Amino acid sequence: MSFHASLDGRTVLVTGASKGLGAFFAERLAASGGRVAVAARHRGDCEEVCARIRAAGGTTMAISLDVTSAASVEAAVATVKGAWGRLDVLVNNAGVTATTPLLDQDEAEWDRILDTNLKGAFLVGQAAARAMAADGAGGAIVNVASILGHRVAGQVAAYSASKAALVQLTKSMALEWARHKIRANALCPGYVETDLNRDFFESEAGAALVRRIPYRRLGRLADLEGPLLFLCSDASAYVTGTSLVVDGGHLVSSL
Ligand SMILES: NC(=O)c1ccc[n+]([C@@H]2O[C@H](COP(=O)([O-])OP(=O)(O)OC[C@H]3O[C@@H](n4cnc5c(N)ncnc54)[C@H](OP(=O)(O)O)[C@@H]3O)[C@@H](O)[C@H]2O)c1
Repeated sequence: MSFHASLDGRTVLVTGASKGLGAFFAERLAASGGRVAVAARHRGDCEEVCARIRAAGGTTMAISLDVTSAASVEAAVATVKGAWGRLDVLVNNAGVTATTPLLDQDEAEWDRILDTNLKGAFLVGQAAARAMAADGAGGAIVNVASILGHRVAGQVAAYSASKAALVQLTKSMALEWARHKIRANALCPGYVETDLNRDFFESEAGAALVRRIPYRRLGRLADLEGPLLFLCSDASAYVTGTSLVVDGGHLVSSL
């Protein structure tokens, strides 16, 4: 039996790839053989990610992209197709959050979170799927959701609602686009240790949160690589509409 987890010859668009998870995803997908477009609003930061990919021998380009703007999304997908002839894989990773009690939630912040995390994933997903369908070769879409798409925590209502809706949107994409050989799956990370949250997780409140994770540790970027590559590649050729949770058991922690 053969197992194809390589992205050799594939073209990939990663949104929100200027830093954080997205930058890691772009680098690892390039290391797996994909030609990777690194897209976000801050193009200079994307160029830095591209420089690291090129230094490792990969093929890449930086793209300015605001996922909340249909015009910007159309231009980004057209740039990938213009440069590389096709789009095979989309990682819908751009996302924002805020910590706000629901009683204090204001409309502008609600709109910013829903527009980026949900409408943005719809716009980029639709533009990518149209390009994939026109080619006739199909493709793979990975929507980066969160364990907060499956359960809730305090003060992140807008974020949780956006990610739950993204999990549901993933199923609609899978259902409607299967006829075009486009697979759509959600990747749902638990809390991942990054430069931005390391201090919090070293505090008493952060340590208390980690004690509720059955594995008793935070996720690491490297924990996401295998699941991401699985969903992007032919290793998951018959997998669509699923939600792959990568959280050390956090979602199944005891009530
Ligand atoms: N970190 C975690 O523990 C964790 C856990 C579960 C899920 N996630 C999800 O993983 C994804 C990445 O999170 P992260 O922690 O890596 O966040 P991050 O470090 O804040 O990075 C967010 C990325 O999204 C981009 N972005 C934001 N608004 C955008 C827009 N309108 N258009 C295009 N790009 C935009 C940012 O780039 P620019 O500012 O340059 O546009 C940046 O590259 C998010 O969807 C998040 O919800 C993260």
